[in-house]
Amino acid sequence: MTACAGMRALEEKEFHLLKNVIYRESGIHLTEMKKALVQARVMKRLRELKIWNYKEYCCYLSDNYDREIINLINCITTNKTDFFREPKHFEFLKEAALPAFEKAGRKQVSIWSAGCSTGAEPYSIAITVFEYFRDKKIPDIKILATDIDTEVLRKGESGIYTSDEVGSIDQDILQNYFMRGVGQNSGLFKVKDFMKKIIHFDRLNLLNDTYPLRTVFDIIFCRNVIIYFDVESRQSVFKNFYDYLAEDGYLVMGHSETLASLTNKFYFYGNTIYRKVVRDARSAC
Ligand SMILES: C[S@@+](CC[C@H](N)C(=O)[O-])C[C@H]1O[C@@H](n2cnc3c(N)ncnc32)[C@H](O)[C@@H]1O
Repeated sequence: MTACAGMRALEEKEFHLLKNVIYRESGIHLTEMKKALVQARVMKRLRELKIWNYKEYCCYLSDNYDREIINLINCITTNKTDFFREPKHFEFLKEAALPAFEKAGRKQVSIWSAGCSTGAEPYSIAITVFEYFRDKKIPDIKILATDIDTEVLRKGESGIYTSDEVGSIDQDILQNYFMRGVGQNSGLFKVKDFMKKIIHFDRLNLLNDTYPLRTVFDIIFCRNVIIYFDVESRQSVFKNFYDYLAEDGYLVMGHSETLASLTNKFYFYGNTIYRKVVRDARSAC
């Protein structure tokens, strides 16, 4: 990858500075192999600011740190997502988790989509829940959708998607849960309000030592997020998930992610889904 005309290439010194700041602030671990990617992504930000070299950008970052770090993280994150991505997890929700909650007579179910990107994941969870309880008494469902990237959260909150983005959704589901744009909005699909009402989007950095949450969740989805973290950052995230997951809850990871050798606080349930190892008072002595 070469820098565009007039724009200087990303030098080693600035790459190291940016890489260290990004790691410290987000846990995203960038190796030397990712230098071209960092250059390309940060270049977009340089153009917006009309800054023509990375050295000047590093000075700009240090002078405007609190504001600019959010923009820097926004350009570095990888936000790939899809509705009903890794469909086995939505089958698990429909066939195992929700029936178990129903059988237990649960009045409230709390689900957290941690690293929710543009919202396809929390909306897919919401659709699965509404479909499951279609002819039944639905409990109070609350979905928390968090991400470090403020741009993707804005899109999730808007609930507006292009026809390409909703391409993987069944036509009946699309009809029931989305409004089709007309006129100027033709080709766009907007999530219906009843679904938006059960989802709350918020910025949360999974790398923080503690999270400002007061809920214990029945299910935590954290799929395709920790792949960007190193071992130490992953362990810190699992320590927090353990505290925020109900004793009979489920932790759903991405298909290429594993907890093996990272923590012994969870056991494998199947399909990259984990449950808490709960020690009772007797085994603790
Ligand atoms: C590849 S997307 C995965 C989206 C969705 N979970 C899925 O599987 O379709 C990864 C998301 O993790 C977010 N992320 C990366 N580092 C994060 C951090 N430290 N705290 C919270 N979210 C983070 C990124 O902004 C991005 O939106």
